[in-house]
Amino acid sequence: MPADFASPLPETIEQTVALLEGEGYVAGRALATVVFLALRMKRPLFLEGEAGVGKTEIAKVLSRALGRDLIRLQCYEGLDVSTAVYEWNYPAQMLDIRLSEASGETDRERLEAGLFSERHLIRRPVLQALSPSLGKGPPVFLIDELDRADEAFEAYLLEVLSDFQVTIPELGTIRADAPPIVIITTNRTREVHDALKRRCLYHWVDYPAAAVELEIVRRKVPGCRVRLSREIVAYVQGLRKLDLFKNPGVAETIDWATALTELDRVALDPETVSDTIGTLLKYQDDIARIAGSEGAKLLSDVRAALAAEA
Ligand SMILES: Nc1ncnc2c1ncn2[C@@H]1O[C@H](COP(=O)(O)OP(=O)(O)OP(=O)(O)O)[C@@H](O)[C@H]1O
Ligand SMILES: [Mg+2]
Repeated sequence: MPADFASPLPETIEQTVALLEGEGYVAGRALATVVFLALRMKRPLFLEGEAGVGKTEIAKVLSRALGRDLIRLQCYEGLDVSTAVYEWNYPAQMLDIRLSEASGETDRERLEAGLFSERHLIRRPVLQALSPSLGKGPPVFLIDELDRADEAFEAYLLEVLSDFQVTIPELGTIRADAPPIVIITTNRTREVHDALKRRCLYHWVDYPAAAVELEIVRRKVPGCRVRLSREIVAYVQGLRKLDLFKNPGVAETIDWATALTELDRVALDPETVSDTIGTLLKYQDDIARIAGSEGAKLLSDVRAALAAEA
C-alpha cells in the first residue's frame, strides 16, 4: 500500500497492541483498550499522567502506524485563537488593498470579499485538524499539555471538540467532514474541566510495570545487555518508591540505558550510578539523597533480588 494512504483502524484490542508495538510502543492491555475504543467510537482520548510516561508518544506512534498526518497543538499560558486556530494574513491583505487602489477598484463589497477569503486565511493547528486531508483520512490531532493553557482557551476547545467545527465571522463555519483522531495530554498541573473530560475517553498513564519497562528498554536500546537492563529497570522502579521530589519517567530509563550502553557498562556499581545519575534525576536534592545510604541500599537490594531470581 502506498505510504500516503491511510491504514485501516484496528478491529480488536490485540490488533491495537500489535499496531502500537509495530512502531515501538509497548502498551499494556488497559491502555490498548482505551486507544482501541477511542478509535472505534471516534471520541477524543484524554491522557493524564506523570512526566515522561509516554503520553505524547502515543499520538506520534498512532499517526505513523495509521499513515495519518500528525497535527500538534502545544499548549502554553496565553495561547490564543490567532496562534491556535486561524489568523488573517494581514500583510497580504494590505498588499491587495494597495493593488486595488492602484487599479481603481472601488467596489467595497467585492474588495472585502476578496480580502477575507480562504486565500488570506492562515490555518493554525485547530483549523488544519478540521480541514479535509486528501486521500489520507482524518489526521491525528495532538493537543499537548492542555493543563498549561488558560481556562478560556479550554472553553473554546470544548466547542471545537463538541461539533468539530470552527466559525470564522468573516467567512462562515468550517466543519470537518470526518472528526480527527484527537489525543489530549495533561500533566495535571491543574484540573481540566469536567465538561471537556466528559467528551473524551479518559486514561491515567501510569509508570509501567517492571516487565513492560524491560520490554521498552529492549526495544528502544537494543544494544543494552540483558543483565544490565534488568538492573536498570529494577533500580528505577525502586527509585520511584522512594518518594523523591521528581520521579524518573520512562524517558529517563531509556536515557540511562543508552548512557550506560555508550559507556560499555555491563552491570551497575556505585561509581557508575553516581557518574551517570544526571540522566535519571534532575533535582539536586534527589541526587544528594541517592548519593547517601539510601542509594547504596537500593543498589544492594536490586542486586540481591536479581541474584536470587537467577
Ligand atoms: N510504553 C512505551 N513504549 C515505548 N516507548 C515509550 C513508552 N513510554 C514512554 N516511551 C518513551 O519515553 C519517551 C517519553 O515519552 P513522552 O514524551 O510521550 O512522555 P510524556 O508522557 O508525554 O511526558 P511529558 O509529560 O514530559 O510530556 C519517548 O521517547 C518514548 O519513546
Ligand atoms: Mg508529553
